[in-house]
Amino acid sequence: MSRITVVGTGYVGLVTAACLADLGHVVIGMDVDDAKIARLRQGDIPIFEPGLAELIAAQGNRLTFTSNPDEAYRDGEFIFICVDTPPMYSGDADLSRVWKVVDRLPKSVGHERVLVTKSTVPVGTGAAIKAELCSRGFEDIGYASNPEFLREGTAIADARYPDRIVIGADTPETQDRVAGLYERLCCSNILTTDVASAEMIKYASNAFLATKISFINEIANVCEAVGADVRVVARGMGLDQRIGPHFLNAGIGYGGSCFPKDVSALKQLAGNSGYHFQLLTAVIEVNELQKRRVIGKLRRYLGDELRGKRIALLGLAFKPHTDDIREASSIVLASRLLAEGATVVAYDPIATDNMRRLLPCVTYAASALEALQDADAGVVVTEWQEFIDLDWQRVKAVMARPLLIDGRNALHGAGLKELGFEYEGIGTQIR
Ligand SMILES: NC(=O)c1ccc[n+]([C@@H]2O[C@H](COP(=O)([O-])OP(=O)(O)OC[C@H]3O[C@@H](n4cnc5c(N)ncnc54)[C@H](O)[C@@H]3O)[C@@H](O)[C@H]2O)c1
Repeated sequence: MSRITVVGTGYVGLVTAACLADLGHVVIGMDVDDAKIARLRQGDIPIFEPGLAELIAAQGNRLTFTSNPDEAYRDGEFIFICVDTPPMYSGDADLSRVWKVVDRLPKSVGHERVLVTKSTVPVGTGAAIKAELCSRGFEDIGYASNPEFLREGTAIADARYPDRIVIGADTPETQDRVAGLYERLCCSNILTTDVASAEMIKYASNAFLATKISFINEIANVCEAVGADVRVVARGMGLDQRIGPHFLNAGIGYGGSCFPKDVSALKQLAGNSGYHFQLLTAVIEVNELQKRRVIGKLRRYLGDELRGKRIALLGLAFKPHTDDIREASSIVLASRLLAEGATVVAYDPIATDNMRRLLPCVTYAASALEALQDADAGVVVTEWQEFIDLDWQRVKAVMARPLLIDGRNALHGAGLKELGFEYEGIGTQIR
C-alpha cells in the first residue's frame, strides 16, 4: 500500500484516484478548483462518468479530497500530475498548469518520492521537469511518465483492465516503484521504457487513431460519389487482422478533449523540431471539413437557403456516455447553422448544460421528441442509444418535414425509409 497524491481531479484525475484507491492505496485528490473539491467532499461527483460515483463512494477513507497543497503533499510518496494540457492558438500543448504543479512542489518533497505525469505532455517535458527539479535541489525525487489511455464513457473499465500500462522512468528503481503500484491490476502488458518514448507513445497512439478515423471518413466521402457503402467496406477491411475492426466507423468527425489537441500538439512538436508532419496536416483538415459535411447534405434537400429552417440536433457530447463537449462536432455544426440563419434546436441526455454555457443562441429541448417538433430536418450528431430507440412513427408525425441526416450511421436507415422518412447517412447507400 502506498500513499498517493493526485493533482487535478478532472476526468483523468478522478478515475485515476478512484482506481488507485480501489487497488488498496491511500489517495488524496487535490484541485485548485475549490468548488469542485467542496462537491467531491460531499460525495457529489462533478463530471458524468458511468460507475465513477459508486467507485468513489466505495473507497471510504482511502480516498479523500483537498484544495490545500500542504495537506495534499504532506504524505504522498507518489505525486500524480493529472491537470489539463489544453491546446494553445499555435496548436502547441499549454503546459502552464503542469509547470504550476512542479513549481509549487513544497520543499519537503524529496527523498524517495516519485513525481508521475499522467497528463499528456509533449516529448521533452519530462526531461525539462527533471532538470528543473535537479536545479532546485530535488535530485532525489524520481520522475516517471505514465500516460493515460482511458476513454471517457468507459473510463473505469479502461483503467481497471488496460490494454497496456506504459511507464517511462528516469531510473530502473523509479520504474519498479511505479510498476509496483499496479501490481494488483489485471494487466499483462506493462511496457517500461525511457521518459521520452513513453511521452511519444501517447501522442503516436492518439494520432494513429485519429488518422484511422479521417481515413475512413474520406473513404465514406468517396463511397458517396461512387455508389459504395462505407459500412460494408469498413466491415470488409476490418476482417483483415492487419487492419482490425476498430475506429472504422465513418461519421462527422472526431472531437473530445484528446484527439484534436493531441494531433495538433504532435504536429507542432514535429514542426518545432524541424520536421513537417504532412500526414497529420491532412488528418486535421479532413476532420474539420467532415464536421461541416452535414451542411451540404441539408442544402441538397432543403435548398441553398437554410435561413429560417428549423434544424434539430440530436446529441451534443463528442460521443455517447459523457457530458464532455470539448471540440465536439456539434459545436461547429450548430455554429455553422446559426451563421446560415437557421433555428437550431438541440437535445442531449446529459451534455445540454455544458453546451448552453458555450452556445446560448441555440434553443435547448427537454427531449429528442421536443427538439424534433416542427423541425425541417433532424441531424444525429451523437449516437446515444435513446435516439436509436425513439418511436420514429411518432417522430414522423411531429416533424415539419421527415428528413433525417444520420451523422453517425447509427439509425436503421432502411426501416426509416420504409416509414416514409428521407434518410441519409455518411457514405451509406440505403435503397
Ligand atoms: N479526458 C480524457 O479522456 C483523457 C484521456 C487520456 C489522457 N488525458 C489527458 O489527461 C490530462 C487531464 O485531462 P482531463 O480530461 O482529466 O482534464 P480536466 O480538465 O477534466 O481536469 C483537469 C483538472 O485539473 C485541475 N487543475 C488545473 N491546474 C491545476 C493545478 N495547478 N493544481 C491542481 N489542479 C489543477 C482543474 O481544475 C481540473 O479539475 C490532459 O493532459 C489530457 O490530455 C485525458
